[in-house]
Amino acid sequence: MERDFLKEKVALVTGAGSGFGRKMSERFASLGADLVLNDINMEGLEETRDIILENYQREILLARADISDSEQVKKMADEVFNKFDNVFLLVNNAGIDGGLYTSLKAKEEIYDKVMSVNIKGAWNVTKAFFRRMKRQKQFKPIVGKIINIASCAGTDNGLNPFIGIYSASKAALIAFTKLWALELGSSNITVNAISPGVFLTPIYNNDPKLIRQFLDSRGVKLPLNRIGEAEWVADVAEFLASPAADYITGQNMILDGGMTISINKL
Ligand SMILES: NC(=O)c1ccc[n+]([C@@H]2O[C@H](COP(=O)([O-])OP(=O)(O)OC[C@H]3O[C@@H](n4cnc5c(N)ncnc54)[C@H](O)[C@@H]3O)[C@@H](O)[C@H]2O)c1
Repeated sequence: MERDFLKEKVALVTGAGSGFGRKMSERFASLGADLVLNDINMEGLEETRDIILENYQREILLARADISDSEQVKKMADEVFNKFDNVFLLVNNAGIDGGLYTSLKAKEEIYDKVMSVNIKGAWNVTKAFFRRMKRQKQFKPIVGKIINIASCAGTDNGLNPFIGIYSASKAALIAFTKLWALELGSSNITVNAISPGVFLTPIYNNDPKLIRQFLDSRGVKLPLNRIGEAEWVADVAEFLASPAADYITGQNMILDGGMTISINKL
């Protein structure tokens, strides 16, 4: 397959100032995309932009906006379409875990914060962009793609009581993935989710020891015995963004080294 299948296409990545968002943005740039990089953290966005511009000549819009605020998201959409004529790829990646609490012990403010970023945020962004995406008839057969970064914690086998509100938010994002795939399929927009397991990112201070301790303390085993690397999320996002995945929609790609199939079994 041509390695520039995102040429003349724009990819919008939320939470692009860190972790998976940064890696996916770099990858999309390598595949030819121009970029809208969104985050609340401007410093992180500038770092991501500089990393990309060191290697690729791309048009990049830095869109600082809090995705949980629909007014900020609408303003971002206006800025995007002042600069670009399409958003082919929309990646709802920004998310927060809210700390370690079982769901009924979490405070209301944690509930509101986690739900407003992980669910309402993805909904706000999708709502602000899908109408324009539908009209991108210059692209065929698929006019646009949406990828939601969910989590194993949102799947039946992976529900995690210690991050209960987060788990519920990611389960809802997986449900939205299927609903939006149904709503947007006839407009030739695909919608899929990626559900990572345990990955080496700033959430764990990029420290494999911390992750091992966390897994051991919960008795969780990884059949493939390796902690995930952010680059592998970018690999799956690349596949979903590519023409090879044009007939895939409404799916949740679990990327967890076998963790969820092994829970309570090994
Ligand atoms: N790291 C993991 O092991 C793991 C596993 C499963 C799922 N995930 C999911 O992957 C996604 C990315 O996680 P990560 O590990 O790269 O985290 P990260 O903290 O490194 O990056 C998240 C980014 O989102 C931004 N953000 C937070 N709230 C925002 C808001 N309201 N508006 C705009 N941007 C906002 C942050 O500033 C940050 O730059 C998240 O949705 C997370 O839940 C991560």
